Amino acid sequence: MTHAVSPAREPASAASPTLYGGTGTRRITVRDLTLAKERGEKWPMLTAYDAMTASVFDDAGIPVMLVGDSMGNCHLGYETTVPVTMDEMTLLSAAVVRGTSRALIVGDLPFGSYQEGAVQALRSATRLVKEAGVGAVKLEGGQRSLAQTELIVQSGIPVMSHLGLTPQSVNAMGYRVQGRGDEAAHQLLRDAKAAQDAGAFAVVLELVPAELAAEVTRSLHIPTVGIGAGSECDAQVLVWTDMMGLTGGKMPKFVKQYANIRKTMGDAAKAFAEDVVGGTFPQAEHAFH
Ligand code: KIV
Repeated sequence: MTHAVSPAREPASAASPTLYGGTGTRRITVRDLTLAKERGEKWPMLTAYDAMTASVFDDAGIPVMLVGDSMGNCHLGYETTVPVTMDEMTLLSAAVVRGTSRALIVGDLPFGSYQEGAVQALRSATRLVKEAGVGAVKLEGGQRSLAQTELIVQSGIPVMSHLGLTPQSVNAMGYRVQGRGDEAAHQLLRDAKAAQDAGAFAVVLELVPAELAAEVTRSLHIPTVGIGAGSECDAQVLVWTDMMGLTGGKMPKFVKQYANIRKTMGDAAKAFAEDVVGGTFPQAEHAFH
């Protein structure tokens, strides 16, 4: 595992030609994502909440990791993302930064850390950059978070915007597809353009009809990152515990499960327990004499 908060370790000219599968070893920057959009290159993003998991994804070549406030449900045992605090976000973001050397690490601004206004938002974003070492922050909302996005960007911190289903507003909007119907679709387009105009470097589109996500993607010069938003987005993100089968229970339709880690871990825990109870672990090779 590498522990680099580092910026570039090689000149920008040595940038890898592709985000995924490239050979470059310096940290990916938001400029690399802009260039990928210009080339028409798609890229993957995964969430990560700890150093060891992040190091696996870094070694696998995942170019962007999000320390999402989904840590609330997926790591900290809360029912929603709403209770996540800045202290928790800072601690886990720092761990993910320490576990990686190439991926761009994006830290989520948790609920309550930016809604009061631009100055509060800048204070929270600055803390994530200074204390955790993230390369960018994410916040929910387009037009409603305009002042926050503008001030953070003007202060030199890249911002990823999050539109469509915004889980921090679950108490107001529930969990359902957003942007259905003409007015809602126009509002989503306006939000996306507002985020871009405010200086956001990318826009997450969550639970948005595929055709609308495709239209937003064509209308913006910054990349869109889809989750439940069809195949036309510039990038795709999944919550790692969902796509690797660690999260229990029924998965949303948009999740493709690539592994069954929950079963692998459960089987290993049972095998260990049976060995201990049956006296077959430890054996001579595990003991010291
Ligand atoms: O917190 C999170 O994991 C997210 C993704 C679902 C985009 O916001």
